[in-house]
Amino acid sequence: MAVGIFDSGLGGLTVLDACQKRLPEVPFVYLGDNAHTPYGVRDADDIYDLTTRCTDRLFQAGCDLVILACNTASAAALRRMQEAWIPEGKRVLGVFVPLIEALTERQWGDNSPPREVAVKHVALFATPATVASRAFQRELAFRAIGVDVEAQACGGVVDAIEEGDMILAEALVRSHVAALKRKMPTPEAAILGCTHYPLVQEVFQDALGPDVAVYSQADLVAASLADYLDRYPDRRGPGEVPMFLTTGDPARVSVHATQFLRRKIDFYAA
Ligand code: DGL
Repeated sequence: MAVGIFDSGLGGLTVLDACQKRLPEVPFVYLGDNAHTPYGVRDADDIYDLTTRCTDRLFQAGCDLVILACNTASAAALRRMQEAWIPEGKRVLGVFVPLIEALTERQWGDNSPPREVAVKHVALFATPATVASRAFQRELAFRAIGVDVEAQACGGVVDAIEEGDMILAEALVRSHVAALKRKMPTPEAAILGCTHYPLVQEVFQDALGPDVAVYSQADLVAASLADYLDRYPDRRGPGEVPMFLTTGDPARVSVHATQFLRRKIDFYAA
């Protein structure tokens, strides 16, 4: 039954929360690699090594399907994992595609050629590693033509959120939005391409203004997972116990997680 959800730290909790609301009968095993967060400033080999190690831990916890609720891992490691690493009978999915399908008004699995879509000017906010990978632009180009993407690497935001310093996180978001607007003054849509950013979504919306449609991943990924499990019900693993695992200090991570989700969360050592 169990499905694994992985992030470098606390950001994937935004995805976990939406998935639990959408699929209350599924036991989710969450793993945060808090000992090594942030991933967004690491190189691709390092992100690959850390992501495979944590995904393997989720397989051991009885998950046959693991969601990389981390754009940085999805951008820098997922393709390489799918090419040569994922063991027989296991599946690993990323978080980019549901978002891009929503932006390009596509249904799941629609592989028709790229076409013109309503939005023309899109701002992408993500970690430095995600921006450097250009994975978002690549996935978008498979589905849409004529979309101008301006990417803003949001250094420091993940660290501030992981530390629970929301005043710093807010200040950094406002300065990153201002930097983006200097390059693209009037985006029609903004993508929050990091699962930590929904925790400061209101700040992004406020800084961007009410006319910008802000896309964040949690609900889109949950809907896409529900659809996937309807199609492939046998891809739930044998695990039955929901749990929260961390490579960091469980007591400290539990306090921050409880603050973010506004409900009691107990992490255990991975
Ligand atoms: N929340 C992650 C993401 O979506 C990770 C950020 C990081 O560790 O830098 O990109």
